[in-house]
Amino acid sequence: MPAKTKVTICYGPPSWFEEVLGKGARTYLLDALNERDAAMRRHRHTIDGQERSVEEEVAPRVKRLIAMTGDYASVSEHAITNFVGLVREIDPKRLVLHNPPELVHAQLKRAFPTEILRFEYPVLKRDALRMFRDGFGGRLVGQAAVRERMLAALYPLTTPRRSKPVVLMFYGPSGVGKTETAQFVNDLIGGTLLRKQFSMFHSEKFASYVFGGAHSEGSFARDLLDRSSGVILLDEFDKAASVFHSAFYEVFDEGVFEDKNYRVRLGPALIICTSNYESEGDIRNALGEALYSRFDALIRFAALSRDEIALVIRRLVDDRFTRLTSEDGALLSADAISEELIERAGRVGNVRKLGKLVDEVIALKLVRAVLSSTDADACPDIAVEGA
Ligand SMILES: Nc1ncnc2c1ncn2[C@@H]1O[C@H](COP(=O)(O)OP(=O)(O)O)[C@@H](O)[C@H]1O
Ligand SMILES: [Mg+2]
Repeated sequence: MPAKTKVTICYGPPSWFEEVLGKGARTYLLDALNERDAAMRRHRHTIDGQERSVEEEVAPRVKRLIAMTGDYASVSEHAITNFVGLVREIDPKRLVLHNPPELVHAQLKRAFPTEILRFEYPVLKRDALRMFRDGFGGRLVGQAAVRERMLAALYPLTTPRRSKPVVLMFYGPSGVGKTETAQFVNDLIGGTLLRKQFSMFHSEKFASYVFGGAHSEGSFARDLLDRSSGVILLDEFDKAASVFHSAFYEVFDEGVFEDKNYRVRLGPALIICTSNYESEGDIRNALGEALYSRFDALIRFAALSRDEIALVIRRLVDDRFTRLTSEDGALLSADAISEELIERAGRVGNVRKLGKLVDEVIALKLVRAVLSSTDADACPDIAVEGA
């Protein structure tokens, strides 16, 4: 009797899985299944036609069968519930799986000798914390209080025994640096930020996304498994309907996320939720005590002051100027444009809008300068939304 299939289960991002696989024989699960189906059809055909083909009988044993993270979605639910049967049928020497559903994991572990490999997620180090402190002002204007609160909130992640995530709620008006701050921390830790925008989901889709659905549907659990970053950004968390709040209790508490199909252990990750709530009271009212009390810190992002808006505009204009060709740059004055914009921006403190305004004004001035033939001053003013 040939030796039993040896199983290796790998949890982590695709790029890491690729490294784990390295060189060596590869037969992909989906190819093996297609091959099997084709063989069956041929077989049926020859039985009907009363003749036998010999080629199928001598197929060599598969050396290494590989199931990728997306494959479970492509095979039938039936094949998932009887995955062991499927493996026995193909009978590879080795089977390597990437981020399989919990059901597949449990079955295989009972039936075959199984080893489990987990990707080690990047963690926040002390020197990254220092870079956060020193680099914050270069990346974001204002929000000095955020910087201090973040340092305190992030510190527990740098202690070696930490095994649970730190969960933060960023709140405040739009376009003042919440997402940017999350991105900044992620840049310091490493990996590609896992960012989920809750406003993008309609309720129905969201239910299967959060609670798990058919294997063929994307899910939060799978996104968590496939991620490479230590930071998980749940952007616009306030847009999720309250029926979904309970789905986050366990992951916020213990760092374990379970849905119908998967079980994910996050370890000392950083979970950042962002919202447009105006106060802690609002958050408590909207999310309920149970969820509210699970945040390690609630961090308020303030509207920018007039001086801060002016500084943002100067930075934006300077940044845009570095990207102009030298001929175009020579036609315009950065200082004059900044001053004019500061005047016009008034109380618009949404940096996203300011960025658009800067782009429009520079483009308009350039067009005027380039086409400066006749009526250079006849262009209408650009209306500033919300000003
Ligand atoms: N305080 C700030 N200083 C400098 N740039 C900012 C600031 N706030 C926001 N921005 C810029 O404005 C854009 C939108 O910011 P974002 O962080 O997405 O806002 P939100 O608070 O809505 O999450 C980004 O390009 C970001 O870099
Ligand atoms: Mg945002």
